[in-house]
Amino acid sequence: MVRLNDVERLVALSRHNEIVKEAERRVQQAKEKMDSTYRLAYHIMAPVHWMNDPNGLIQWNGEYHVFYQFHPDSPKWGPMHWGHVKSKDFVHWERAPIALAPSEWYDEGGCFSGSAVNDHGVLTLIYTGNVWLNEEQTELKQYQCLATSKDGIHFEKDPANPVLSEPPFDCQGHIRDPKVWKRGEDWYMVLGTREGNNGKVVLYKSKDLRHWEYVNILAQSDGSLGYMWECPDVFRLNGKDILLFSPQGIEPVGDRFQNLHQTGYLVGTLDEETGKLTHGAFEELDKGFDFYAAQTFEDERGRRILFGWMDMWESPMPTQEHGWAGALTIPRLLELTDDEKLLMKPVPELQLLREEHTHLESISVKQHEATYTVPVEGDRLELLVRFSLTDFRGNAFGVKVRCSSDGSEETIFRYDTGDSVVTFDRNRSGRGEGGIRRAVLDGSKTDLITFHLFIDRSSVELFVNDGRLVMTGRIYPSETSQGIELFTEGGDATVFSVDAWKLKDIWG
Ligand code: FRU
Repeated sequence: MVRLNDVERLVALSRHNEIVKEAERRVQQAKEKMDSTYRLAYHIMAPVHWMNDPNGLIQWNGEYHVFYQFHPDSPKWGPMHWGHVKSKDFVHWERAPIALAPSEWYDEGGCFSGSAVNDHGVLTLIYTGNVWLNEEQTELKQYQCLATSKDGIHFEKDPANPVLSEPPFDCQGHIRDPKVWKRGEDWYMVLGTREGNNGKVVLYKSKDLRHWEYVNILAQSDGSLGYMWECPDVFRLNGKDILLFSPQGIEPVGDRFQNLHQTGYLVGTLDEETGKLTHGAFEELDKGFDFYAAQTFEDERGRRILFGWMDMWESPMPTQEHGWAGALTIPRLLELTDDEKLLMKPVPELQLLREEHTHLESISVKQHEATYTVPVEGDRLELLVRFSLTDFRGNAFGVKVRCSSDGSEETIFRYDTGDSVVTFDRNRSGRGEGGIRRAVLDGSKTDLITFHLFIDRSSVELFVNDGRLVMTGRIYPSETSQGIELFTEGGDATVFSVDAWKLKDIWG
């Protein structure tokens, strides 16, 4: 392999710096023309134009760094760069310049998804360099690459790049999204790939991040779990090994797998020697509409935290007309229950967003009155609604958010007592795609159903019963649709309590 000498290395570095600077200039220009109608108040978004997957999640030198797939030149997917924000508290985010831009032969078609590690104090990004082999962009080759930074802001592509060029078997070029972690003295890396029409995750091992040895197929589709697995992530919780990944091509089964692509997990035990994960059944992680390519990291307090891309490939995105598209979910704390369910909870730091608080108790909701109007309005709210099942004789209750005063717009979340199904209905949510998602709230028998909602200008995230069931969706209501209503069916209900907080606009 030809090594770049020092001069070539400096030339490569200054070329990348120039490309980044130019892209930043175009971003500043484009911002002036952006329409900010549906811009979110407290979620991570690109400054303008298109973004998708969260990348390179890490806490480094005390700060949380979040990178993301970014196309600085249009509100549609295109040559991928890595956008970058950082924060000390998960709430107040500061934009940093673009971290990675295509600049070398091995990433000329884009710097695709990847992860970050702290290598003896050096912030190191591991990403996929994408190269198109034909003009139609139907054939490709993918390389795994490194970029390093001493200040956490400016990145240099490693002279050893690409650090992995050949796949372990024929995968039609699709091998990407490196997630790297350290156990003991060894670095491990998983990659998403395919063989024929079966998605797979492969495991590699290294001593220095620059030389990788193939270990094995860590897990693969048995024919029912899709043709390609993207964005794998492996971590330990509660004594178990978890593989989180985003399979493409799973067929819908009843209410399950309703989105174009899924993000879900397998729980089991990883044998690092053989590189095999023995595991149970695949479970979707978020049962809403817009959740994909999620990634996790462990922070300095030992917490496992996740961000997802809060959109779905191919979904209509009304904000593209406004010059931007894409956002990340709020940061979510992961926990594994004894019955091996992965829970997602909003990180407690999000309480820093809270402003005005309203607390209501023992609200009687009469079925003949159709709805009870909560005396709070807003397009950025946190809402905690506790329904008690104890004396409830009806068959369903729920909450409607982003309601218009004329009744034409509303986004409905309901719980049906008969089958314990939670429904997210966005058929009357405004612009964008409608649809219904339904999922059974399983697990602990409880008399209390808690709907914990994070509402932002064009999104809703619902956490039911402390993260046992999570549903995320983008919605595009009129700005004036800000009402909240409670409803019941088949009997009167006493809603135990409602807490509502207006939330800060961290970008405003
Ligand atoms: C997932 C994904 C990744 C890829 C990236 C490209 O959404 O398709 O597999 O690296 O997006 O932007």
